[in-house]
Amino acid sequence: MTASTSHLIPPHGGELIDLVASNERVSELKAHSREWPSWDLTPRQICDLELLLSGGFSPLKGFMNRADYEGVCQNMRLSSGLLWPMPITLDVKEEFAKSLKPGSSKIALRDAEGVMLAVLHVEDVWQPDRQAEAKSVFGTTSKLHPGADYVLNKSNPWYVGGRLEGTQMPSQYDFRSLRMTPAELRGEFARLGWRRVVAFQTRNPMHRAHVELTFRAAKQVEANLLIQPVVGMTKPGDVDYFTRVRCYQLLLSKFPAGTVKLSLLPLAMRMGGPREAIWHALIRKNHGVTHFIVGRDHAGPGKDENGKPFYGPYEAQELFKKHEAEIGVTMVPFNMMVYLEDQDKYVPDNEVPNDSRVLNISGTELRQRLNEGRDIPSWFTYPEVVQELRRSFPARHKQGLTIFFTGLSGSGKSTIANVLMTKFLETGGRPVTILDGDLVRKHLSSELGFSKEHRDINIRRIGYVASEITKNGGIAICAPIAPYDAVRKQVRSMVEPVGGFILVHVATPVETCEQRDRKGLYAKARAGIIKEFTGISDPYEVPADAEVVINTTDLSPEEAAQEIILHLEREGFIGVNGNH
Ligand code: PPS
Repeated sequence: MTASTSHLIPPHGGELIDLVASNERVSELKAHSREWPSWDLTPRQICDLELLLSGGFSPLKGFMNRADYEGVCQNMRLSSGLLWPMPITLDVKEEFAKSLKPGSSKIALRDAEGVMLAVLHVEDVWQPDRQAEAKSVFGTTSKLHPGADYVLNKSNPWYVGGRLEGTQMPSQYDFRSLRMTPAELRGEFARLGWRRVVAFQTRNPMHRAHVELTFRAAKQVEANLLIQPVVGMTKPGDVDYFTRVRCYQLLLSKFPAGTVKLSLLPLAMRMGGPREAIWHALIRKNHGVTHFIVGRDHAGPGKDENGKPFYGPYEAQELFKKHEAEIGVTMVPFNMMVYLEDQDKYVPDNEVPNDSRVLNISGTELRQRLNEGRDIPSWFTYPEVVQELRRSFPARHKQGLTIFFTGLSGSGKSTIANVLMTKFLETGGRPVTILDGDLVRKHLSSELGFSKEHRDINIRRIGYVASEITKNGGIAICAPIAPYDAVRKQVRSMVEPVGGFILVHVATPVETCEQRDRKGLYAKARAGIIKEFTGISDPYEVPADAEVVINTTDLSPEEAAQEIILHLEREGFIGVNGNH
């Protein structure tokens, strides 16, 4: 039995758009597609396409043409006059743009595997003024604003606008039962008899403050609650959505039974603050939502070069208020919720009684506590959420790590690396892999020589393997010469997001290395038999960012390995009881 959805809030523009073609039409389009140029969609374009096809972006029927785009940038209006705050454009490379004929060309839009998801009937092709776009939409051209940075530095320089016909929805294999199109969610509301629905938008894990806030909001406007987290693209550095969704699922039991629903939104956020808040509400309206929570700093992009926030904390609420009638969704404004210790309860920060002790834990503080395996109090979040977060973000002594040695040939890197490995094996725990210079050159880089270009490729390969080992909880011990600073830093930035990275400079002076000359290479280098030999006829850039510096002139390999172990203990990479 299907319940009627006619009593629900009308979609933006009056009609719920569904761009997916009939089976018959799909076969026809597929048959013709070989005649059309293909465009491989970027991850963000796939997110936008999904919401275009499903009607999440109603009334849009395709990627914006120039008139809609300019209207949206300049005064948040489509050419029909309807309110719409965010450009939804298809950015392509210049050469591709120039091959198109507005009015007649069709483009097969494909996913990363080459599957055709939609056909774009090309109406407009133009080169936008992206500086002006960033300025009018985001109010800034700063690289530190993720939305502006995307427009200016990550998107392609030409835009193509036109009507879409969907041939297949982008494939999503995770959390299938939580992914609902606007039509499906509307059907669900009708089935449940939910007329008033307040939506909560989030890109972060939810804690007690958020549960209190959303519960209060639902009570206040006497509505059911839709928790609709973004699982498309959020702010770089955010907690991955797999972890977040597991946490949201755990929270559902904290609400009165039958009053709350969780649904995932495949949106690519722009972090556009006030404009984004309106956009979010319009998308929710298309999903059948009547009320929308706008908190402090909604979809905030962070701070600019001078440490000043791009938008004021309540600017989103102000802009929303101005357009509320036209948006058609009622705003439920909320201040930040804080914990009152004496009363063991949460209140909005503008309702805190004088002289009360207020507690709060920031996202950064939470990360630190997880890293260090420190307690996370139950007034802040629920134990089952903490447990879930700890699974994804284990304490340092349970994380993988890379120990990256750098130093001249014969400086002692391999010897210390091997001693260190035996120490790790002795204590047990994490699996250990050694990526010694010679081993790597045999198994991963046998075709490479010693030019700067080849050395950099070699180090990047080591970095890639080390980052995979680290991500999977192991210890990678790397011991190449790695003479160049820039590529060492690249490796650090590959590894650090997934675990620990410790740069060890084995700073044995070239004179000592040459005196030892264990492999006879220095003699050959001096004689010119080996060219481009590091320290003799090739540069070595001394690192200024090494966590540990070892001079083997005065240290035995055992003592050197001990220095590193002490550093690891100090930084929490080796746990108590010596177990790592
Ligand atoms: S690099 O720069 O990090 O890619 O070098 P790496 O892969 O560690 O390889 C260094 C080993 O190769 C031998 N070898 C040379 N080293 C430096 N310069 C030149 N021209 C050269 N030719 C051969 C040398 O044995 C190095 O091994 P180690 O263990 O460092 O002595």
